[in-house]
Amino acid sequence: MKSAIVYYSFGGATRAEAAKRAASSGADVFEILEAKKRGIFSAFLSGCPQALGRKASAIRPLSIDWSQYDSVTLMAPVWAGHPAPAFNAALALVPKDKILNVVLCSGGGETPKSKENTIHLLRQQGYCLASYEDVRTVPPTK
Ligand SMILES: Cc1cc2nc3c(=O)[nH]c(=O)nc-3n(C[C@H](O)[C@H](O)[C@H](O)COP(=O)(O)O)c2cc1C
Repeated sequence: MKSAIVYYSFGGATRAEAAKRAASSGADVFEILEAKKRGIFSAFLSGCPQALGRKASAIRPLSIDWSQYDSVTLMAPVWAGHPAPAFNAALALVPKDKILNVVLCSGGGETPKSKENTIHLLRQQGYCLASYEDVRTVPPTK
């Protein structure tokens, strides 16, 4: 069974977590990039309201042959207590016949404002959600 890890990272912590998981599991890794590179002001001023509204940001095209994978781990940072907007954009690309694992990286290591609703929405939208994990991350050392 082949797995793909698909992640968005603004500051590098989610990237490091994705790389660690790929190294131990042998999964293929794909990075999601937003169409327009964000700065920190944009992350807080427009990214957080987008995250709160569960809006998708524009992302660059992803080149993934989904037919090769049975399961997909979708990883993103938490902004304003919710998955960052690139998570919503990438989610829309994941075929619903894949087993979906969600990993959200945050400074607090929990998502009490959104977890229940995220799980509910994913199931309601027809995703085969196998797991939801909150990870407390530390900023990567340069
Ligand atoms: C715009 C913005 C909003 C954030 N909001 C939260 C939050 O609500 N709760 C939290 O625990 N961490 C929050 N964080 C911290 C990040 O979720 C955390 O540092 C994460 O690991 C960053 O991942 P990255 O380096 O891959 O972007 C926020 C960071 C940014 C940049």
